[in-house]
Order: sequence, then C-alpha cells, then structure tokens
Amino acid sequence: MSETFTGVVAIDGPSGSGKSTVAKAVATRLGLRYLDTGAMYRAVCAAAMYDGIDLHDEAATAAYAQQLELFTPTDPADQTVIANGRDVTAEIRTTRVSENVSAVATNLAVRAELIARQQAIVAGGAIVLEGRDTTTVVAPYADVRLLITADPEARIARRTAELHDTVDQETLTMTTAQIVVRDEKDSTVVDFQSASDGVHEIDTTNLTLEQTIDTALHLVWHAPTSKQQQQRGN
Ligand code: DC
Repeated sequence: MSETFTGVVAIDGPSGSGKSTVAKAVATRLGLRYLDTGAMYRAVCAAAMYDGIDLHDEAATAAYAQQLELFTPTDPADQTVIANGRDVTAEIRTTRVSENVSAVATNLAVRAELIARQQAIVAGGAIVLEGRDTTTVVAPYADVRLLITADPEARIARRTAELHDTVDQETLTMTTAQIVVRDEKDSTVVDFQSASDGVHEIDTTNLTLEQTIDTALHLVWHAPTSKQQQQRGN
C-alpha cells in the first residue's frame, strides 16, 4: 500500500522564484488541494478596479473586500477564479492588475479578511498553499513549510521569459524594475525573503524545475515536520 500525505504544505517565496509552479506540481503529485493566495489579492484588485473603487482609499477597499463574493479554486488542474459572479481568471494576470495589486496587498484590513478566508480553506487539511505570508502568518503550524528562493538575476530572467517569450536587454530591464519595485513594496508588510525557524529553504538558482519539485517532495516526506521540531525544542 502506498503512503498518502494528508497534511498542510505551505510555500513562500519572492516573485519569479517559481513557487507557484512548484506548489501546483507538489499538490498534483500528492493528490492534494492547491491554494494560490496571491490570486486572491489579485482578484480583489481586479474586481475593485472593475467596480471603480479607488484602491488608495483604504477603508473603501477594505469594505469592498469584506463583501466580495470570491470563489477561490483549490483544484490544481482548474484555477478558475470567480469574483462577484464574474470570471476574472485572465484579468488577474494582466499588467494592470500586477501594477496595482500592491495597494491591495499592503492594506492591512484587506489582509485580515483574506487571511481569515485562507485559514478557513486550509482548516480542511490535505492542501498545498502558496504565497508570501503562508509559512509565517496564514499557516505557521503547517506540517511542512518551504521557502523557494533564487538569486535576483535568475528570478528576473525567469519572469522575463514568462512575460515576454524572449530575454533581451530591454525586457530584462523592464522586468527588473517591476520585480525590484514590487519586492520593495511587499516587504513593507511581509518578510518573505528569509527563512524563519522550521522553514526549509530551497535555493533554485542552479536547479531545474524538475530538481526543485523533487527536492520539495523529498522534504515533504523526509524533513522533520514543524510539530516534530517544536517537540524537539527547535
Ligand atoms: O504571488 P503573486 O504575484 O500572485 O501575488 C500578488 C500580490 O499579492 C503581490 O503583491 C504579493 C501579494 N501577496 C501577499 O501579500 N500575500 C500573499 N499571501 C500572497 C500574495
């Protein structure tokens, strides 16, 4: 009989570290649910802009997020996001949303609302959740907590290829600016750049995607869980 893992895996990491791809692959291989918490911030941003909310009005944006009917998918093979009955799956990946989402993600009242919704989903167990505060705030008691990192140059090259199909000097410069600015903005509310106690770091700078997924799966099966580490007093 093959073993099954039914716990909670939380994965953090900066833009372009490959955390989404790794998280989705780990969920698929282990037959777990998958939660992309960043997609929730993006969905609030897309829906609020659609409804003409001024994202710099913190109270209005928070009130909007609190009443937003958000369908957050947990099937790794179907990541259709619905906000107030509207399919926003494509919209949440647009440059417009990428450029405006920090205003939503740095709104503490919006964070409180989305974190509560994320925790309700995670309470069902058997899930891989991914996003910048998942190992520290959303699911600090996850069975396995991973931080996926890569040197800035590697992250920028990957994100550039993802966004533009080619990696030339102009697209590199543009993406560098976007990534550096966004990391700086996001760092004001969440420290996602360094591993906290009990979080296993995977530096993917010199790893292929397949090697990264294998390393993550190995850690899921063999790394001491957060609970075991606490029992040992780590
Ligand atoms: O991972 P992403 O690029 O899809 O995230 C979108 C935005 O939301 C980005 O500004 C980071 C932020 N975010 C966050 O603050 N906390 C999370 N758990 C996930 C994403």
